[in-house]
Amino acid sequence: MNNPLTIALPTGRLGKQSIELLKAANILSTFDSSSRKLKILDAKTNIAYLFIKPSDIATYVEKGVADLGIVGKDTLIEQEKQVYELLPLGIGKCIFAVAGFKDTVLNRSNETLRVASKYPSITKSYFKKIGQKVETIYLNGSVELAPLMGLSDVIVDIVETGSTLKANNLTVLEPIMDVEAILIAGKTNYQFEHERIKQVINQLKEVIK
Ligand code: PRP
Repeated sequence: MNNPLTIALPTGRLGKQSIELLKAANILSTFDSSSRKLKILDAKTNIAYLFIKPSDIATYVEKGVADLGIVGKDTLIEQEKQVYELLPLGIGKCIFAVAGFKDTVLNRSNETLRVASKYPSITKSYFKKIGQKVETIYLNGSVELAPLMGLSDVIVDIVETGSTLKANNLTVLEPIMDVEAILIAGKTNYQFEHERIKQVINQLKEVIK
């Protein structure tokens, strides 16, 4: 038998949706959600799965350790990795937005706006485009806490259900773009594994909504 094809899957919320999609497409035959194993082999399909933090997926794929990966478009834009974007997957649909307290003014002429975000690069380029000077405060998570505690004026983050914003009395001030999960491949692996990757894409296309 060939070496297994290797797919990098994100842990967390997007991971659950990815597994459902892969199962529906008959690409993943069984999955034990209680296991803490970080690498599994699905012998039936000869595909190995790696479970990786969303922000590290594109690194494994770019370096050729995984043949394919599932990653949010938000993370891809932020990281500018050298990978092929093969297929939007119709899961993990979010908006990318500037959010804050309802009456926060974004355009402050010469004043600097303090923006907390897990996405410093997207933040800088967005505010550069609209001509607003910013101080970007990089955070790893729970970004909504920053305006609450006076660490920043606003945040730039993804909004999926809107419940985190609502629970913290914040709102979308300016949508930036729509994002969703994308199937990606490393440039070299794509050439070598072209046939098997094409098969995965075709099976996914059958079930993507
Ligand atoms: C993401 C994002 C928001 C939240 C949005 O955080 O950074 O905080 O989800 O989702 P919602 O609109 O459905 O509430 P995540 O849950 O990944 O955790 P983190 O804060 O640790 O990054």
